[in-house]
Amino acid sequence: MTRVIVVNGPNLGRLGVREPDVYGHQDLDTLRADCRAWGQELGLDVEVRQTDDEATMIGWMHQAVDEGTPVVMNPAAFTHYSYGLADAAHMLGDAGLPLIEVHISNPAARESFRRHSVISPVATATITGMGFYGYKLALEAVAHCLAQ
Ligand code: DQA
Repeated sequence: MTRVIVVNGPNLGRLGVREPDVYGHQDLDTLRADCRAWGQELGLDVEVRQTDDEATMIGWMHQAVDEGTPVVMNPAAFTHYSYGLADAAHMLGDAGLPLIEVHISNPAARESFRRHSVISPVATATITGMGFYGYKLALEAVAHCLAQ
């Protein structure tokens, strides 16, 4: 089974209690179980991670490059300003590894600071506004890329 990591940035550990009108009522453990089940259907061994720490997230990208692991990433607020994470994410593309950016909400329909992603230019694809289902689509996109 191909391993895939699903990495989530700051404040996504608060899913279920943080702005449920925007992010829904389900928590990170539910997302973890969903992603593992969706992965199994696709023949992917999915590990879901979350951190509020930029350096940890960047370290996970280095590890993914070194281990040849495809990545699904919800960079959360890092999306909008972390050039360090964008540089790390760039290395996935250089290594020929899929990087699917996913957002639970549709940032383009929200505050103006959310309309710019520094990650999108280095992502294979970006999925927004589909709630947790966006992660399923992202895993399907990974499987599609791996089958090419
Ligand atoms: C988010 C959108 C970001 O703008 C925000 O900072 C998040 C979550 C989303 O999943 O919709 O924390 O990435």
